[in-house]
Amino acid sequence: MVEHVNQPGWADVEEYLSTTLVRGGAGMDAVISSTDAAGMPRIEVAPTAGKLLMLLARIQGARRVLEIGTLAGFSTIWLARGIPEDGHVTTCEFLPEHAAVARKNIDAAGFGAKVEIRVGPALQTLPTLAGGDPYDFVFIDADKGNDVNYVQWALKLTRPGSVIVMDNVVWEGAILDPGEDPDAAGIRAALDFIGSSPRLDATAIQTAGTKGWDGFAIAIVT
Ligand SMILES: C[S@@+](CC[C@H](N)C(=O)[O-])C[C@H]1O[C@@H](n2cnc3c(N)ncnc32)[C@H](O)[C@@H]1O
Repeated sequence: MVEHVNQPGWADVEEYLSTTLVRGGAGMDAVISSTDAAGMPRIEVAPTAGKLLMLLARIQGARRVLEIGTLAGFSTIWLARGIPEDGHVTTCEFLPEHAAVARKNIDAAGFGAKVEIRVGPALQTLPTLAGGDPYDFVFIDADKGNDVNYVQWALKLTRPGSVIVMDNVVWEGAILDPGEDPDAAGIRAALDFIGSSPRLDATAIQTAGTKGWDGFAIAIVT
């Protein structure tokens, strides 16, 4: 039994798990380099988390994926890898400069035909997606203050059996006492909504590593 767990050890373990199970980052180095080169923030999911998204999409048999928050396309590419050849990812990104970097990365990864990037505030894009086939899988990872709105839109755009994953649900523990932090308050509001929604059955997994102390909420639409 491990008696002492400390933060420096988490990053070492993540490195080992990435190398061993994600196999050295699985060819995603170019996406990380492009993020740095463009001066964009390094707020993409960790490689182990990206692969978790890919595996969840595969396990669920997802064909149609919706992502809110593209950045440079790191998680988008993982999601595209988790769906069949004729599957589709719609990803929403507010900043045109982020979307441009993501477009190049997604095309270079060979998923150009599978991924559509919708540029603009997601709350303006999401209503335009209504009326089409439901999404099987939704990944929420944008401005945290809008998380509860994104979960509510995800419910409108999915079907029973769809999976909704929301990133950053621990936020270094700040969700317990958001105080003046609007991101923590937004995450907390979304978690409270998910936990009380009769249409969602959910849990969360806490994560610790190079991205600090955080976690994913995972819900199924009932
Ligand atoms: C945490 S990053 C996404 C990381 C990405 N999912 C990954 O793991 O590779 C959040 C992204 O959401 C975008 N964003 C922020 N507010 C937004 C909004 N209102 N609508 C759409 N995208 C937004 C940011 O510009 C940023 O690129």
